[in-house]
Formats: sequence, structure tokens, C-alpha cells
Amino acid sequence: MIIRGAKGVQGRITLPGDKSISHRAAMMAAIADGTSRIRNYSSSADCGATLSCLENLGVRIERGGSDIVIKGAGAAGLSQPAADLDCANSGTTMRLLSGILAGQHFNCTLTGDASLSSRPMQRIIEPLEMMGAHVASQNGRAPLQIDGKRQLTAIDYELLTASAQVKSCILFAGLNAEGRTVVIENEITRDHTERMLRWFGVALETGKPEREPENACFAAVTGPAKLRARDVLVPGDISSAAYFIAAAALLPQASLEIAGVGLNPTRVAFLDQLMAMGFDISSSHRREESNELIGNLRVGGRRIDHSRRAQPLRIDGRIIPQLIDELPLLSVVGSQIKGGLEIRDAKELRVKESDRIATTVAGLRAMGCEVEEFADGLRVSGPTQLRGAQIDPKGDHRIAMSFTIAALMAEGDTEILDAECVAVSFPEFFDLVNSVIR
Ligand code: S3P
Repeated sequence: MIIRGAKGVQGRITLPGDKSISHRAAMMAAIADGTSRIRNYSSSADCGATLSCLENLGVRIERGGSDIVIKGAGAAGLSQPAADLDCANSGTTMRLLSGILAGQHFNCTLTGDASLSSRPMQRIIEPLEMMGAHVASQNGRAPLQIDGKRQLTAIDYELLTASAQVKSCILFAGLNAEGRTVVIENEITRDHTERMLRWFGVALETGKPEREPENACFAAVTGPAKLRARDVLVPGDISSAAYFIAAAALLPQASLEIAGVGLNPTRVAFLDQLMAMGFDISSSHRREESNELIGNLRVGGRRIDHSRRAQPLRIDGRIIPQLIDELPLLSVVGSQIKGGLEIRDAKELRVKESDRIATTVAGLRAMGCEVEEFADGLRVSGPTQLRGAQIDPKGDHRIAMSFTIAALMAEGDTEILDAECVAVSFPEFFDLVNSVIR
């Protein structure tokens, strides 16, 4: 894919459904009693992998574009798949589904592509084994062979890694455990599972444990628990919106409106950071849909930076899990602001679809930035006039999209290798970019 520089971004867009929320809606509908209709289901390959796995577990799904209908199998109604369950590139599919499968009466195997097979799974194997399931792996990596146990044991578990996927896996397993399963997190991660379990009728508890650190919180389910089918409207994907927001914020002639996008407070840290940098972003028509906050966003043109900041803006600590998927893009934004940007405490980026610290550093350097790489982050100087380059996203959709936005700011053409990998989260990405750039 060859990308030229652009002057601005203009228009009103809507986005396919949020990936995280879509995975959860499909999985919960699959184990609920009754039929659920999910509207604006994500068009991503990742969420397609979730549907295929569920179909192979005997769930009946009517797929009609972005509206799908799932006939719930009920708490004990999934059936042993005839073949391995292929989670493709999707960590969310593998980690969340494992939580459901740990509490079934059959054995099955979860596989993934080369990237997913290199990602850490011990983080879910440990709690699932504490609950009584048996999970065989390749040194803590996929393929995962899960020996289901219908009645698991409830546990109290403190997350060792700030991960919504691990939290969700344990809560799903807790639905099939006898007693109260508690997950404690010391850093807040996205809470879509908690919200959607409530939407599907589960009496989920949340609160603050009586101990340090002060920001710790817990979520608990008491099993065995049943889900009641529910229709879901999935908000537009804020992580997909982020690319357009960054482009509109950075290019000189911009006026962009994004309608019906998810504004869950655990997902908007990227917007907060851009607003703190002085970019012109506002929201309107805020409302609740299916227990999630949704609204419209408006992004104006590039602000004029009168600040004298010499030090890079530092992003670290507790906020990191709340913008984990936006950090490559935020690094691109950082290359355009006075003083540049430093990201720390983000070593999790090394075990995403690619080593996102390495792929982001390589891309920024190829486009002419001065960058320092750390074990847990990076520092990019700014503002830098980017120049076109050849970018290898290493099959990682978010790297391909982040550097497409960088390319819009660059002098000269940029070539993104293997650009079709964007379909992992956002197949419509390039068409939508073409429809709004000026
Ligand atoms: C996700 C959680 C995040 C995120 C991923 C989707 C989810 O992963 O990076 O893209 O849907 O729960 P971790 O929770 O493992 O950090």
C-alpha cells in the first residue's frame, strides 16, 4: 500500500463495532438461555474467529453482515468440537474462550497463527489450573489443550499482569465454579466483561478491596451462574476511531465527526491525552447503550503550540493499560508535538501481535525520527518533519494503521508492506481513510 501526504481530514463517519465488546457479546450470547441479536458486530477477522469457534462448539449463528443472531446453547449446552478451534491472530478469542471451555464437560484444543502461538498463555493457565481445569501448552504457549471440568472451584485471584483478557477469562470460568470467584486488579483495565455480564443478567459484584494500593478494585461472580439472552448494540470501535482522530488532530485542515462511538471511561485515555496536549476534541450526544457509554466525537483542526516545553511529555504508570492499544499511534502523535513523548511502564507492548516497542521504534526511525528504545517503552523527539519510508508492520494491524497516519503527515510516499493485515481489526480502514482525506 502506497500512501501520500494529505492536507486534512473532513467528513462524518461511523465505525464498525468495537472489537472487545463484540467478542464478549458473542461469547455471552452463546452460553445464554435464549436468542440474542447483536447489532453492529465488529467486521474484524478477530471477531470472525470468535464466531467460527463458537459455531464449531455447536452454537447456531445467523450471520448477516454487521447484524448477527445467536441462539444460545445455555450454560451446559456447548458440544465437543470435531476439530481444533482456530483462534487465528486473536488473543482475546483464545484467552476469553479458554475461561468458558475450562468449565465444560469435554476436552478441546485451541490453536492460533504464528504470532498468537508465540504469545504468553501462562497468565491464564495458572488461574484456570487453580480452579481445577487442566491445560496443556507448549511451554506456556498455544496450542492449548483444555481438559474441561464441569464444576470448577472458585478462587480469589490477584492479577499479576494488568490484563482485561486474563480478568475476563477468570470471570468466565467463575460462571461454572461453585462459590464466589474474585479477581483483584491493581491497575484498572477495560471493564466490558463486567458491564456485559450484568447486561446478560449475572449478579456481578464490583468494589474496592480493603487493602493497598488505593486504586485496586475487584470483580466477583458467584457460580454456578446462568446468563439470559439479551440484544446488544455494539458501539463504534474507539480504538479504530483513534487513527482518524489522530489524523484530524495533526493535519492542518480538519473537521471530522465520528458518530456512535464507544466512550467507555476505561477506553478513552487516548482522547484525554490528546486533549491534554491541547488538541481540539469534544463529545456530544452521550448516552448508554447495552450498558456501555456511547456518543459522538468532533475533532477540529491542528492547534497552534505556544508552549515552551523542552522535556518530552511522559506517559507511564496506571494509565498505560487504558491506552495500551493506542500506544503505537500515540508515539506517532508524540513525534509531532513540541518536546516529543516518552512512554514507560509498557513492557506488555512487547507481547502483543508484534513486539510493538520494536516495530514502533523501527517505523519512527525509518521516517526520520530520533528515537530511544527502552525495555518498557520509548522516547521520540518532536516535532519532526516525517519523511516517506518503507514500513514493515510485521503482520501487526495496529502498526500498519499507525504508520498510515504517520504517512499522511510525511513528505514523500510511504509504502506499508503486508498492509492487508489491517483486516485483523479493521478491514474498511483504507477505504475510509480515502473517503475522508483532502
Ligand atoms: C483486550 C484487552 C487488551 C488489548 C486487546 C483487547 C480485550 O489486552 O490489548 O487488544 O478485549 O480484553 P490485555 O488485556 O491482555 O492487555
